[in-house]
Amino acid sequence: MDQNSIIKSYKRVSSIYDYTFGKVFKPGQKTLIEKMNCNDNDSVLEIGIGTGSSLQYYPQKTKVVGIDISPDMLKIADKKIKDNNSNNKTIAMMNGEELCFSDNTFDKVVAMYVISVTHNPERLIHEMKRVCKEDGDIFIVNHFSCDTDNLFVRAFEKALMPVSKILGWKPYFPYTEFNSYANLDVQEISKVNIFDYWNIIHASNNK
Ligand SMILES: C[S@@+](CC[C@H](N)C(=O)[O-])C[C@H]1O[C@@H](n2cnc3c(N)ncnc32)[C@H](O)[C@@H]1O
Repeated sequence: MDQNSIIKSYKRVSSIYDYTFGKVFKPGQKTLIEKMNCNDNDSVLEIGIGTGSSLQYYPQKTKVVGIDISPDMLKIADKKIKDNNSNNKTIAMMNGEELCFSDNTFDKVVAMYVISVTHNPERLIHEMKRVCKEDGDIFIVNHFSCDTDNLFVRAFEKALMPVSKILGWKPYFPYTEFNSYANLDVQEISKVNIFDYWNIIHASNNK
């Protein structure tokens, strides 16, 4: 999916996102941010922050920068930040595949439900590693297709692939393929959300 298709998809869903997909994704956001164990001095980059629905789960004092390529999703995030007077939380329109941050900037870098949406996930992972401090932490929530999945589920995901532009994400996203280029130093993988359909990955940024 190219960048324009992603922006168009999220323009369509931005106004209903928090009441639909956003509701399904909330447990994963909350669990992942608990696992991040942020302290007051941490600087966090959240890639693909969307409507900013995760912001409520970070400790008040933790500095979080959220970026996204969708102006429509960011407009909703901006309202949340203003309504809550969240001084330590900022957002910017930026492509996660070409981050405007220096190397080794953030203690923790996180991408929730973004890896199977972005045009080039390999490029996005490369950027996550680059801007994360050495020995910092990388966190991901995403659905990954596995060989052990139910055959019906796998066939269904593959059948949906031709309409991935309309859906706004790639339903069939094999973990083995992702891991072959991501090459993450995985510390933990756990399952989350309805039917345990999504995975939380915690990796160390050993460069
Ligand atoms: C499924 S939504 C998830 C939003 C949010 N992370 C959440 O947990 O609700 C995917 C988001 O990723 C954003 N996105 C996709 N590709 C991106 C990229 N290359 N850089 C920045 N944001 C991206 C989309 O615009 C959208 O807001």
